[in-house]
Amino acid sequence: MTKPAHVNTVIIDTDPGIDDAIAILYALGHAGMNVVAITTVAGNIGLSVTTRNAGRICALAGVDTPVHAGAAAPLGREARPETGIHGNDGLGGVEFPEPAQAPRSHDAVAAMQAILEAHPPHSIDLHCLGPLTNLALLLQHAPAAAARIRRVIAMGGAVDEPGNVGAKAEFNLAHDPQAAALVLAAGLDLTLIPLDATRQLRADATYIAALHATGHTPAIAVAELIEAYFAANSAESRPLHDPCVPLFAQNPQLFRVEERGLAVDVDTGALIPGPLRIKVAMGLDAPALRAALLHGLSS
Ligand code: RIB
Ligand code: CA
Repeated sequence: MTKPAHVNTVIIDTDPGIDDAIAILYALGHAGMNVVAITTVAGNIGLSVTTRNAGRICALAGVDTPVHAGAAAPLGREARPETGIHGNDGLGGVEFPEPAQAPRSHDAVAAMQAILEAHPPHSIDLHCLGPLTNLALLLQHAPAAAARIRRVIAMGGAVDEPGNVGAKAEFNLAHDPQAAALVLAAGLDLTLIPLDATRQLRADATYIAALHATGHTPAIAVAELIEAYFAANSAESRPLHDPCVPLFAQNPQLFRVEERGLAVDVDTGALIPGPLRIKVAMGLDAPALRAALLHGLSS
């Protein structure tokens, strides 16, 4: 693989989760991303499972990326897992090794703060693949450290699209609406990748076969994860929500980004018209991104 022009230093904040696992495997294998930590949050499944899964994903990828466990519940409310899609183990029952090492810590926010303070200002990207609880807590407890973040790319929300939690809300923002409201209002360099874009990046049986045909372990694991995704829903294809985050980081030219005036409904987590000017990805080049994902998982 040719050496990338620029290597992004990245913290991945995540609730793995089938589609999280696909995103993480792509990021860990991409020469253009240096993942310095994975921080976990309760969301798709409880915190102990998302944290164990982060370790399992790293073990399959053959990396010793530090995993730090974060928030076990949203701000001010109970956690509500989504085992219907991700299964009781959070990875659809797909065979993954056990973690090769214990979590580095059980304080993701302190770890984020330490990493941000140890690196030059505006040199770290944050990829958010789950509820925004950890980032909200960082903003509350270490605002100076949060101000050192270069940019945040977060999968979340539904702008013009219907939601997947009720009519208008999307799971990540609906799981912790208070955190979402805090993050969107914080003035960070934030790009949201909502369902409007992620539902356009779909995987079908042909794509699964192409992943298997590469013979590469990460690509085969992703094929099995997508097959598990199908088990939860018999549609022709399944949307690849979270992989859009690292794919955007490495291929921004393949996305159409608009700026919208938004706010967060703090009861439901739905995005509503409001005063916050937020960059939102509203379209993408799905064939080119599928090819980039397959290439990244098999090179
Ligand atoms: O709405 C999709 C999002 O919710 C994805 O991040 C998926 O992993 C779930 O967390
Ligand atoms: Ca997720």
